[in-house]
Amino acid sequence: MRQYDAIGPSVTERIDSAILEAPGRRVQILANFGVGYEHIDTSAARANGVIVTNTPGVLTDATADLALLLMLMVSRRAGEGERMVRAGKWGGWQPTQLMGGDLAGKLLGIIGFGRIGQATARRACALGMAIAYTGRRQLTREEIGFDAEFIPEIEQLLARADVVSLHCPGGAETRHLIDAARLEQMKPSAILINTARGSVVDEVALAAACASGWIGGAGLDVYEREPHVTEALLPLENVVLLPHLGSATLETRLAMAMRAADNLDAFFDGKDPPDRVA
Ligand code: DGY
Repeated sequence: MRQYDAIGPSVTERIDSAILEAPGRRVQILANFGVGYEHIDTSAARANGVIVTNTPGVLTDATADLALLLMLMVSRRAGEGERMVRAGKWGGWQPTQLMGGDLAGKLLGIIGFGRIGQATARRACALGMAIAYTGRRQLTREEIGFDAEFIPEIEQLLARADVVSLHCPGGAETRHLIDAARLEQMKPSAILINTARGSVVDEVALAAACASGWIGGAGLDVYEREPHVTEALLPLENVVLLPHLGSATLETRLAMAMRAADNLDAFFDGKDPPDRVA
């Protein structure tokens, strides 16, 4: 912060008010390498005249793909099956071995119906799932391009959905949005998918819910204290754990880098950066 005019932080760098207010700061712009920016205190940035930008749009498809991957892995017990094969424990095809559940005909409940939530829903439609969502407002069919039911009350969505996928931003407003009480509202067969931010889910409560059968399982790409993963999750066969891979494709990471570079170029050309969030 004292040495450079600009920094391109990522989700692993927490930039809080103490850092932004520290004397001798040279940095004028934080061009975040990622769409989520709850790790940057944007109020403190604003108050201290530091511009913050992010990379929206370019990682929508990659992240939605990963949400689908997790849904399929959990519902078809792919992690469990893979571990069985690698451990040399597979004895051959059996009629009732590792039976999962179909996604076709099931209801996908999306929490946070922005770009990534909608892209996930669009993919799930292709698998034959019905879509419901909570969000800031009800969207028209023309706006989204497919049928989706708006359920304003999160409790109702949780009670009805077979798969719940989280696509809301992280930060104080959504911290532990999915806690023990909300997990109890889900169906015993339901699956929870989190490709948003770890802080949205109470990980300890989720581990208890998956271990005790309150819910059917979970697929996680993000964690409350990355890279730490709540230990109680590790032995659970009905939980798939990925290491924050949502945007990890070559095409997407290049597009994110170019987007961050575009914001820096604009700023140093004296223009308003296109993806300014603070
Ligand atoms: C994002 O873009 O928010 C990804 O999670 C990486 O930070």
